[in-house]
Amino acid sequence: MSPIDPLTRRVLVTGVGYREEDDASSEGNVFDSPGVKPNMGSAVALQVVRAGYAVVITARTERKLDRVRQSISQYVPSAEIIVRPTNILDPDSVERLVHSIPSDRELDLVQSAGLSAGGYELPDGNPYLPVDKMPLDLPTLEFNTVVKGLLTIVKAFLPTWRRQSETRVVVISSMSGIRAYPLGYAHASAKAGLHHAVRSLCLELAKERIYVSEVNPGAVNTGFYDPPSVRSAVVSIGRDFGYDYSETGIPQIPPISIGDAAVLCLTSAAHILSINAVARGQFPHHGA
Ligand SMILES: NC(=O)c1ccc[n+]([C@@H]2O[C@H](COP(=O)([O-])OP(=O)(O)OC[C@H]3O[C@@H](n4cnc5c(N)ncnc54)[C@H](OP(=O)(O)O)[C@@H]3O)[C@@H](O)[C@H]2O)c1
Repeated sequence: MSPIDPLTRRVLVTGVGYREEDDASSEGNVFDSPGVKPNMGSAVALQVVRAGYAVVITARTERKLDRVRQSISQYVPSAEIIVRPTNILDPDSVERLVHSIPSDRELDLVQSAGLSAGGYELPDGNPYLPVDKMPLDLPTLEFNTVVKGLLTIVKAFLPTWRRQSETRVVVISSMSGIRAYPLGYAHASAKAGLHHAVRSLCLELAKERIYVSEVNPGAVNTGFYDPPSVRSAVVSIGRDFGYDYSETGIPQIPPISIGDAAVLCLTSAAHILSINAVARGQFPHHGA
């Protein structure tokens, strides 16, 4: 296997966006402006560009993609960044994406699209609910976005990947997929489904030089844990594992660290199967 040269490759990053507080300015760099928190897709795109790759960034919200593109360009003025608004649950939209990406470089994928950024309405944005309060359709809604979304993308890009010398596919999943906890009926079950979908893909595609990796973060500082209802649910979960975050706050990984993990999967001479990461101080258990 020859070494990976990022300068000859392009990475498609899905799930690129950010959260902003109501009174935050709609301008300014998303990576360092007050009241704005980039998500993992944005952080992955920045680190991938810093590593020398060209990128295609995608999600449904063009306004956010444009702001992330401008923000990355401020750090790396020479960056080659293509913006392609796409709905990954719509095969026609994904087909348009496939045909709009230049074929001058081989293409890798970091799949970071998920459901926590307004894809569904929950009181205070909190999916960590007791079973008696769990909406009946929440588990399948989240499952649909992450599992069907990945399948739609993979099926559309397989012909491209099969023509390449090799391909790296990195899926940002979650520690929730490999460990259960109370209040996790929807989120843990959806991410457990994604975990096995990714493992199946990995086994199926490796013989075709398509190397699939999974990155499983614990809590990440994307703004997801900012609503009081989410914080109090996670404080309660932490207590079940012997941790008290009521005074200290919930330990969270900076999104940039997940970008670094994705770059390692993209560039390593090894086929990295999975990276499991929690913030220092977050309960680090694997099994239940
Ligand atoms: N935040 C955490 O602490 C954490 C921890 C562990 C794992 N995770 C998981 O890691 C992944 C990334 O999480 P995140 O918090 O960085 O991002 P996120 O807030 O879940 O955002 C996901 C992104 O996916 C996009 N998206 C959703 N549905 C889409 C669709 N149908 N088509 C295209 N794009 C779509 C959203 O943008 P648009 O709405 O503009 O389309 C958004 O940019 C998720 O699967 C999440 O569950 C998160």
